[in-house]
Amino acid sequence: KATLPDARERTLIAVKPDGVQRRLVGRIIQRFEQRGFKLVGLKMMTASEDLLSEHYRELRTKPFFHSLQSYMTSGPVVVMVWEGHNVVQTSRTMVGPTNPTVAQAGTVRGDFSIHVSRNVVHASDSLEGAQREIQLWFEAKDLLDWDCCDQMSTS
Ligand code: PPS
Repeated sequence: KATLPDARERTLIAVKPDGVQRRLVGRIIQRFEQRGFKLVGLKMMTASEDLLSEHYRELRTKPFFHSLQSYMTSGPVVVMVWEGHNVVQTSRTMVGPTNPTVAQAGTVRGDFSIHVSRNVVHASDSLEGAQREIQLWFEAKDLLDWDCCDQMSTS
């Protein structure tokens, strides 16, 4: 069966501690399933400061870095890998801009958040970033390769 060229693209999506505490996990997963993406990895964990320091390594010099790190370690996160055509870019659109003030209704942040420091969800911002983040949060054996009965076909 022919599939779209980048149908195996993957991205990392994390429901942040505020999203877990506000019981938003199911609704966020539902949006990705409904859109047509495939869940290939999922875990709930409390992240360590070291892991977050690596995840947000480009932000280490930002004034908000320590508050971001303490927010992200304040409770469990639900970390997922989603797969599908253009999933990196489409996920960013679905999640909405980093600052919820300018996020449109219909995006996760536009519907569920009001402040950049509690913006519910993380989505990788590029293909390279996604690959790096997936390797950081998941072992290869925990990413499952499974076929959809309704896989998108080019023919
Ligand atoms: S920057 O400064 O442009 O590089 O940062 P930005 O791309 O806007 O955001 C990167 C991540 O930092 C989070 N962020 C914050 N957290 C806490 N407090 C403040 N003030 C703050 N500003 C930005 C933002 O939510 C981004 O997190 P992720 O998980 O990547 O969405």
